[in-house]
Amino acid sequence: MKCFFVPCLRHRTHRRVDPSSSSSSSSSSPFANGTGTARKFTLAQLSAATGGFRDSNLVGEGGFGRVYRGRLDDHAGGDVAVKKLRHGGAQGAREFLVECTMLTLLHHPNLVSLVGYCAQAHERLLVYEFLPRGSLDAHLFVSPSAAGHHLGWDARVKVAVGAARGLRYLHEAVTPPVIYRDLKPSNILLGSDLSPKLSDLGLAKLGPVGDDTHVSTRVMGTYGYCAPDYAVTGKLSVKSDVYSFGVVLLELLTGRRAFDPGREREEQWLLAWARPHLQQLQQGRRSREAARCLEALADPALQGRYPRRGMYQVAVVASLCLHDKPNLRPTMSDVTKALEHVASKPWSATGGSSANDDRKEQHARSL
Ligand SMILES: Nc1ncnc2c1ncn2[C@@H]1O[C@H](COP(=O)(O)OP(=O)(O)OP(=O)(O)O)[C@@H](O)[C@H]1O
Ligand SMILES: [Mg+2]
Repeated sequence: MKCFFVPCLRHRTHRRVDPSSSSSSSSSSPFANGTGTARKFTLAQLSAATGGFRDSNLVGEGGFGRVYRGRLDDHAGGDVAVKKLRHGGAQGAREFLVECTMLTLLHHPNLVSLVGYCAQAHERLLVYEFLPRGSLDAHLFVSPSAAGHHLGWDARVKVAVGAARGLRYLHEAVTPPVIYRDLKPSNILLGSDLSPKLSDLGLAKLGPVGDDTHVSTRVMGTYGYCAPDYAVTGKLSVKSDVYSFGVVLLELLTGRRAFDPGREREEQWLLAWARPHLQQLQQGRRSREAARCLEALADPALQGRYPRRGMYQVAVVASLCLHDKPNLRPTMSDVTKALEHVASKPWSATGGSSANDDRKEQHARSL
């Protein structure tokens, strides 16, 4: 990895970072708890690990190429995910380089770990830790009958908190900040206990330093998640990620995709459909109208099993993240704190008392 050049990327020591974060456990090393190196594999080693890139080992395919499950006997945990770059020209090569560089230097429990890479002749492959539950979209956008896939309220909040911590780390624990630029459910991978990890840093960009609030760059990312200010002006800031995070939060609440061509025309864009409900919620939680909006927003797959207060709080956080003006969007620290608060009141601990909550509220209103 010696050939990769990253200007002065270092962990900040003056900001409070996630206490559970590996990077906060030692402030003496700039890349604490990380080796700062990635293992170099030969194509033959990775071919052997994946059974010759056998179709039965294929776990997914994205814009970069195919992803295979593999096994490395000398790797702790054994299983790895091997991503094989489709011959994708300069952009593919750039993303490979950025991904290798970022994941070699950055380490956090909510960021996927890079085990190594292969750059042999024209072949480019990336080797990651294997996340057994795959990506969030495979759980969120499935029919409720898909056994073992459905995510309940507490799991959704857990995913939201973990993803928020991962973004907070990128924005606030390293200097210059790293702007992820590609937050979406298919890039949030889930561990066996549903703890999420951000993956795919190929589009990540170093953020501004000093008093600058943004960097100017070519617009990249995924349709539906891109902040309108960035899409129009090319001015990229950490607040562009905050906007994308707002979209993902809405997806978690509603079970709807940011853009779904399979829906009626007026419901295809999640934001356009949800905006009137979110605006109504900002007026307050206690009106009958607000209760109706919450019900309209909630994913039917949840079958009403969620705390009304928690749903309201997450919807308000999403709404703030989606503010048109980037400077009025919250920081990922603020977002993380708010979501941690929601997570501290799990639905499971209430014994599923959402109906009781409502009755108590009605009682309070009638007093
Ligand atoms: N480390 C991993 N562990 C387990 N599964 C993985 C891992 N990385 C990727 N996958 C699987 O491979 C799929 C494809 O991932 P990939 O990142 O290549 O594309 P994508 O995110 O779906 O699309 P895009 O190219 O737009 O980012 C994922 O949806 C996931 O199911
Ligand atoms: Mg991806």
